[in-house]
Amino acid sequence: MYNEIDLDNIDINSQPPIEEPGRQYYFMAKCRELIKGFEQKNGRFPQACVVNMGCQMNARDSEKLAGILEVMGYDLVDTEEADFVIYNTCTVRENANNKVWGRLGYLGAYKKKHPHMKIALCGCMMQEDEVLEKLKKSYRFVDLVFGTHNIYKFAELMYTVFVQEGMVIDVWKDTDKIVEDLPVERKYKFKSGVNIMFGCNNFCSYCIVPYVRGRERSRKPQDILREVERLAQDGVVEVMLLGQNVNSYGKNLDEPVTFAELLMEIEKIEGIKRIRFMTSHPKDLSDELIEIMAKSDKICNHLHLPLQSGSSRILKEMNRHYDKEQYLSLVGKIRAAVPDIALTTDIIVGFPGETEEDFLETMDVVKKAGYESAFTFIYSKRTGTPAAAKEEQIPEDVVKDRFDRLLREVQSCAKERAEALTGRVEDVLVEDVNEQDNTLVSGRMGNNFIVHFPGDKSLIGKIVKVRLKECKGFYFYGELY
Ligand code: SAH
Ligand code: SF4
Ligand code: F3S
Repeated sequence: MYNEIDLDNIDINSQPPIEEPGRQYYFMAKCRELIKGFEQKNGRFPQACVVNMGCQMNARDSEKLAGILEVMGYDLVDTEEADFVIYNTCTVRENANNKVWGRLGYLGAYKKKHPHMKIALCGCMMQEDEVLEKLKKSYRFVDLVFGTHNIYKFAELMYTVFVQEGMVIDVWKDTDKIVEDLPVERKYKFKSGVNIMFGCNNFCSYCIVPYVRGRERSRKPQDILREVERLAQDGVVEVMLLGQNVNSYGKNLDEPVTFAELLMEIEKIEGIKRIRFMTSHPKDLSDELIEIMAKSDKICNHLHLPLQSGSSRILKEMNRHYDKEQYLSLVGKIRAAVPDIALTTDIIVGFPGETEEDFLETMDVVKKAGYESAFTFIYSKRTGTPAAAKEEQIPEDVVKDRFDRLLREVQSCAKERAEALTGRVEDVLVEDVNEQDNTLVSGRMGNNFIVHFPGDKSLIGKIVKVRLKECKGFYFYGELY
């Protein structure tokens, strides 16, 4: 494990080891030498900024990048006016890409005035051929580009950037490799994401993720448990298990394990008080999992269950493998088994060919499922996905109108569910001092609702009882109980 590896004992003049992660530690040691040189010359350590632009899986990857940079000797900072900046990109919707191009423009201008600075790009967007072409043609000031499959090679790639002239590009099409035991710099001391699987095999017809994240690969249960045990020893009380479709965890392992079995093992780990997971695909959600959620003390009473559309016809076109009735009956089953559960979802409006009737089916499911919260998205055409080739793309004004109606419905439904909780006393994990009012702290309940209440920073990382006094729609004001 990284904190047991002493970089001083690595002979950086020998040949690099072949085996991972040893090879990466060798390159971290080599980079550290160069960074010591920077420090001697400039009287300070170089600063590095890791910008996360994607989902929780990307956020976890960013923590790995930050961990490696820290081991090399960088000071981690939040400002992009730094000696090294890396964007960990997302490409799930077009606007994610636009954001990268925009910010890269600014960063290029900054680099002109600070030519020693290095810029790197990684993550999902780098897996697209057209993005690479554009970078090679018009963004030559970028020093390093790599993708989602070789992120574990970051130290080695950084070393190449230091010793080689010009843009370094290393993007792989896919991998079957999972490299364990690299350094991680966590954003929060008391909670952490834990990858349990990588990639996706579902190929929902609108979605680019399977193309940029590759095929589904599960980590071995013993590696996951070892990581969670270490996190617990390090003060973590809440873990969020991460995967594009956690309900299919373990199916492809040499010794198959179900997601529910994995949860039962994690539940036994001392020190861990809360377990969350994301994301559950409705088609694979098992009765076994519902049963475990109902009887577990540690699994939070929150389930994110993406609907995408309420129309059975559109769901078929989306390749989701469930229909409206199956989805609603699943919701009924979960609400009956875990009465306190908060349900959240993702919904797309304006999928090609979506009619007003299809849209009204979505509105109907929203009313019937009674979501505590929902992320609503306007369909975005992604190159290479089957839906992008469909002819019946929906006009912008029609989509916008449906989006606004959906948002109103989702918000009024969420408000109603939240208001019903007012007056209750809930266990709350305190996360931060409130940014607007520093006499308050902010924390999260098991059901994922946020509550602000009087307190100070000594409470951060603790689970306390809070009475919910006032509902503000998405969040509450409360007081210590
Ligand atoms: N694996 C997760 C979702 C990952 S992407 C799951 O299956 O639930 C997160 C969300 O982005 C998706 O649930 C979907 O609602 C949305 N999304 C994905 N592709 C999209 C696209 N092309 N346009 C608009 N929204 C999209
Ligand atoms: Fe995309 Fe579907 Fe995979 Fe989720 S399950 S990442 S929506 S293809
Ligand atoms: Fe975006 Fe990649 Fe996550 S495309 S949503 S960062 S898996």
